[in-house]
Amino acid sequence: MSLTSLSHFPTPKISHLSTDDFKFIYEPAEDSFLLLDALEKDCVRIEKLRPCICLEVGCGSGICITFLATILKSWPSLYLCTDINHKATEIAQQTGRENGINIQPVTTDLVESLDVRLKGQVDILLFNPPYVVTPESEVGSKGIEAAWAGGERGRQVIDRFLTKVSDLLSEEGLFYMVVIKENIPEEIEQMMKKEGFDMETVLTRRSGPELLSILRFQRTQA
Ligand SMILES: C[S@@+](CC[C@H](N)C(=O)[O-])C[C@H]1O[C@@H](n2cnc3c(N)ncnc32)[C@H](O)[C@@H]1O
Repeated sequence: MSLTSLSHFPTPKISHLSTDDFKFIYEPAEDSFLLLDALEKDCVRIEKLRPCICLEVGCGSGICITFLATILKSWPSLYLCTDINHKATEIAQQTGRENGINIQPVTTDLVESLDVRLKGQVDILLFNPPYVVTPESEVGSKGIEAAWAGGERGRQVIDRFLTKVSDLLSEEGLFYMVVIKENIPEEIEQMMKKEGFDMETVLTRRSGPELLSILRFQRTQA
């Protein structure tokens, strides 16, 4: 058993952020913390991969990519993150710095401008998407509403991103995504099966009205 499998990794410090910041960017909540717990649960699998490039899409405060880097502390990797909200990418880099992690942020829609260069290169991919069921008209903002507005079945942004995963991930790469029951994870599993991925549910937790799950995708092994 590796030493890491026994450890508890510290939750990244976000005390540099104020309530004013959270008027503009997503404040880490149960969904964010469930993703951290799933990464911790999978730490041996993640470590074994010896990832070269880690990417978080929709980084918000940067807590998730910073935590991933904490798990991989002894392993040199490139930590990239994107967000459509420029305030989020700015703050995510700050969160990294406050926790001794060097994060490269890019303000963009999903992975636009990066996807060609990153083709087949991403070893660990994270996405806590805007998953809340809302009117379609609420999707597409570049401000705080972008943090939750997911349109019909909460799938508007999710489905757009799922078509990009196969191009981004390396052969052994792992993709972790947060969903709620209303996003219909069984349907997502079928969509990703057609793209050549197996899906597993790493963790599930109820938070108020939300039944949250962390899904892990990996290419189907021959
Ligand atoms: C639920 S929040 C998650 C934030 C952070 N990852 C966390 O777990 O605390 C979703 C994030 O996705 C970002 N986002 C929404 N649509 C996006 C898009 N099309 N491209 C990039 N980021 C997007 C939002 O601005 C927000 O920061």
